[in-house]
Amino acid sequence: MCGIFGYIGKNAVEMCLQGLKLLEYRGYDSSGIAYIKDSSLYIQKSIGPLNNLEKKALQAKGDIPIIGHTRWATHGAANLENAHPHTDITQSLAIVHNGIIENYTELREKFQFNQLASETDTEIIACLISYFYEKDLLQAVIKTLKLLKGSYALAIIHKDYPDQIIATCNQSPLAIGYSENQAFVASDVHAFSGINLHSVILKNYEVAVIKKGKALFFNQSLQSIEKKAEKIFIDHHSISKQGFQHFMMKEIHEQPITFQNAIANRFSLEAGQIFFHELQDLKPLLKNINHVVIVGCGSSWHAGLMGAQLIEKKAHILTTCEIASEFRYKDPLLSKKSLVFAISQSGETADTIAAVKIAKEKGATVVGICNKENSSLEREAEKTVFLHAGPEISVCSTKAFLSQLAVLSLLANYLGSINNSLSKEYISEYLHELVQIPLKIQQVLSDKDQLEKLASKYSHYDQMLFIGRNLMAAASLEAALKLKEISYINAQAYPAGELKHGPIALLDETLPVIGLCLNSLTLEKTVSNLMEAKARNAPVICFTYEGSKDIPSVFQDTIYLPPTIDDLAPFTVCTATQLFAYFVAKKRNCNIDKPRNLAKSVTVE
Ligand code: AGP
Repeated sequence: MCGIFGYIGKNAVEMCLQGLKLLEYRGYDSSGIAYIKDSSLYIQKSIGPLNNLEKKALQAKGDIPIIGHTRWATHGAANLENAHPHTDITQSLAIVHNGIIENYTELREKFQFNQLASETDTEIIACLISYFYEKDLLQAVIKTLKLLKGSYALAIIHKDYPDQIIATCNQSPLAIGYSENQAFVASDVHAFSGINLHSVILKNYEVAVIKKGKALFFNQSLQSIEKKAEKIFIDHHSISKQGFQHFMMKEIHEQPITFQNAIANRFSLEAGQIFFHELQDLKPLLKNINHVVIVGCGSSWHAGLMGAQLIEKKAHILTTCEIASEFRYKDPLLSKKSLVFAISQSGETADTIAAVKIAKEKGATVVGICNKENSSLEREAEKTVFLHAGPEISVCSTKAFLSQLAVLSLLANYLGSINNSLSKEYISEYLHELVQIPLKIQQVLSDKDQLEKLASKYSHYDQMLFIGRNLMAAASLEAALKLKEISYINAQAYPAGELKHGPIALLDETLPVIGLCLNSLTLEKTVSNLMEAKARNAPVICFTYEGSKDIPSVFQDTIYLPPTIDDLAPFTVCTATQLFAYFVAKKRNCNIDKPRNLAKSVTVE
């Protein structure tokens, strides 16, 4: 997604470029900066990686206001004309924007803005501010905002105001930070890394006038708003690769710890109890729900698929899992007895936030499962269960996905325990297995050479098919997504039982079939599906657990993983398929942390 950064203070160009670098993980295809110096506006833009911009950027002495942007193309191609910042026709002001203005063509026609330099919706905002500008920038901005429909996070500078940045947002996140002799604005507080600041998260429709050492806040009626700042210090350390070649590998290796963080303080092994302090107020409602819906996108949806199976099985409550972008347009059947879990690592995925709003309109109670405090999801949900996984920088989700699964697994048993569908003995047994999982994940990591060898053997194929049953069907979807998004291999996934209903027609020696056989209930069936694939000359790879019997020696490769109960098998197999995808992508020299066309957080529809 696009990244916005603004700064007022010394070494402004250097500080702005550093801030943009800390937003690179959001994905982009062009970048630019604009600053005011000696009452003139300076702009530099470039295509491709930020170091192209760094080469062009001219240093500027003194305390100046600067804004910067990394653009992930939505309206208009990824070219220099469409790169931000954008200006008005008089080149008096510059603006950077994250979001989508849905009525920009209507506004362009209504105000007859015909001499435009770009195809972007953002340039229309600059033209409107200039149109309304009569020596009061804040007034002009607010008049403009009242006309906009859609999502925006904006930072604006004007040559008549060489000491300030105006910032505002609606549906797209924006954080403000300030200290004694400087001030910041950014799409994400992690861009303030390594600096002690007073920080404020801007709420929808609030407008900030940011100056060195302070920020003033207004609503769209120009009334002043008091906002409580909190002191933050984002540790550079959490944003570094700590010796790994890629953030993805670092984050995969963090999983034994992040798994523990996800379940910490949410159970007692001795008492055989599970508790969610953040859901304490909802307990009476949770005892009376008759319907659970889980919504999410991508890997979050995959975690939801597994969570839905576990909740239905453990809590005996009808539970479904929906892709958020489908859920929001289907007029879902919900009531006051419906509980909606909205899963989002970033807490900013537009489709998931929209789904949450619809669920609330229909009277359902929404609980967020999220990795980001102060996110849109936390603001929209009734309650939020945080993953505590730390910043996930690699575009493809690994540790956050596994932590989502850990929270969902606990929640399923929690709901089962408060609905008396699970005995204390069962909960105790489950918890004893659960606390072993970090060690089992660590064992998969220690045996990663077998996955690197497997990847070397199969990385030349341009297609692969993952199959599994029960929880392994969703694990297959996640394995296929990891592989396709970082290695660009056409990896697909099917419930193993579906093979004979069509996909088997694809099978030949060019299509390796990877069976995830870690579900004891369905293991034999999945093994026979692999034999059917073998009979059609497809290369066959079997993932199963140490000690599983009767795995035919005719399979090309078999990967043995640490055994655990079926409900917890996704943790070991997903770690293994994350590593497999990583090594395949590395072998294919792909851009593992920032794959082409992808963004870390899809904040537009
Ligand atoms: C996962 O590897 C992908 N990067 C993507 O599918 C991601 O899970 C999806 O965009 C949802 O993001 P969220 O969890 O931040 O809502």
